[in-house]
Amino acid sequence: MILLSPPKQIDLTINGQKYSGRAEPRTLLTYFLRDELGLTGTHIGCIVGKCGACTIILDGKAVKSCLLFASQAEGSEILTVEGLAKGSQLHPIQEAFWEHHGLQCGYCTPGMLLATYDLLKRNPNPTEAEIREGISGNLCMCTGYVNIVRAVKSAAEKMAPPKKQKARLSRASAPLRR
Ligand code: FES
Ligand code: FES
Repeated sequence: MILLSPPKQIDLTINGQKYSGRAEPRTLLTYFLRDELGLTGTHIGCIVGKCGACTIILDGKAVKSCLLFASQAEGSEILTVEGLAKGSQLHPIQEAFWEHHGLQCGYCTPGMLLATYDLLKRNPNPTEAEIREGISGNLCMCTGYVNIVRAVKSAAEKMAPPKKQKARLSRASAPLRR
């Protein structure tokens, strides 16, 4: 006789909203997000940690959600691809991928966007070599990576604070002359 552990409730915050769902101890986080919570933007590829299609941001760091059980994410804060855009306003990383044709079939794209998000958080102005290293855990079978690298570079530029804005900020923080 096989004894299965009963599902348990998992509570977590995803894209700024509280979510609860039930998962067996063996349920992978990828399946929990997709099947239990309906967040199907996180894609399933290899399920063994090789392709990066399932990449999400968990408590501020990029992780492959197929390598975690849902129960390990209890109480955590997650960003999935659904949380990047604000309404109809694309995130600058999404805009850059769109503008530079950083995708073809789009299967790798959610993971690629979140790997880029993680890279630019750690290194806001990466070199081409650093970009290639930063996204090396995410495989794309279509693009040949050239346009993805261009898109990441462009996203870094879009997300850099504009010089004028910097100047305005430093003026604002300077003591007022009388
Ligand atoms: S599905 Fe997770 S790394 Fe491939
Ligand atoms: S765009 Fe098809 S796998 Fe990357």
